[in-house]
Amino acid sequence: MRIRPRRNRQSDAIRSLSRETHVQVEQLVYPLFLTDGKGVKEEVASLPGNYRWSLDMLLPELEECMKLGLKSFILFPAIQEGLKNKKGTYGYSKDNYYLKFAQTIKKHFPEACLISDVAMDPYNSDGHDGIVQNGKIINDDTLEVLGKMAIVQAEAGFDIIGPSDMMDGRVGFIRDALDENGFQDTGIMSYTAKYASAFYGPFRDALDSAPIENDEIPKDKKTYQMDPSNKREALREALLDEQEGADYLMVKPALNYLDIIHLLDEHFDLPIAAYHVSGECAMLIAAAQNGWLNLEEAMPETLTNIRRAGASIILTYFAKMYAQQKAKLRY
Ligand code: PBG
Repeated sequence: MRIRPRRNRQSDAIRSLSRETHVQVEQLVYPLFLTDGKGVKEEVASLPGNYRWSLDMLLPELEECMKLGLKSFILFPAIQEGLKNKKGTYGYSKDNYYLKFAQTIKKHFPEACLISDVAMDPYNSDGHDGIVQNGKIINDDTLEVLGKMAIVQAEAGFDIIGPSDMMDGRVGFIRDALDENGFQDTGIMSYTAKYASAFYGPFRDALDSAPIENDEIPKDKKTYQMDPSNKREALREALLDEQEGADYLMVKPALNYLDIIHLLDEHFDLPIAAYHVSGECAMLIAAAQNGWLNLEEAMPETLTNIRRAGASIILTYFAKMYAQQKAKLRY
């Protein structure tokens, strides 16, 4: 036998020479849940190891993350029930604590990249990403709200705006709104192929943002988020986002949608981001807690798989754990 593939697998040093995929800490984006108040660090029950942070508690946490080499963070606000309404107006109110948090974080860590969330659901008393009228999600009126949210977020210092709402035409609408207000340099990371997935559960727990139970309100997000069966449609969404001026294309969730990540990576030149969502992370954590698999091995393998599929950026709740592990191993 002259040809023996096992020769290239003989030692760690040899395997390192032919390793095709690497996950760098600076390619990870760490999602963080925020809450107004002081001294709060509340664990999300369905996503152990993740918390709702008040600003004073978050700053030292961010410092620790930055020392580990993490540079990018995506922030999601939990909003008190009393501040929610059908039009999500608190989302673009200058009083929105989310904006003040971002301003303060940028003051402390100007070198950090902050990514925002543009969608109505944290602020909407109906729990949808758009305005609900007569049992329907109204696309074009929602764009007005999203545009206003994007402007106040850019003003607060967010580096990249993250529309996660899946309304038609929102990337172009937001791009115009930003440009008209002098924010030409603020980027847009579009949730391009965001599927109506069952894997967002822990996230909705963290923000208490699930659609409310009421006969007049659609009980799911299937009229705007994509059907999990569809692949060709992701190309259509990506083409629109590219034409409308997106700077990054995101696929969400990641693990069950590796084929979509690969597809967009093959067809588009824009950087591809993958959102390794709350339910996907929670599954690994739960299995590890039961002693059914070893998280320290399963977690980096998972992130490598997402990179291998074609994502250059991974949004993951494991960002800090991965950075800690890497620091320990000094790869
Ligand atoms: C809502 C939004 C969701 C997530 C990010 N932005 C949930 C949803 O669409 O209901 C999910 C992220 C996760 O599960 O980690 N705009």
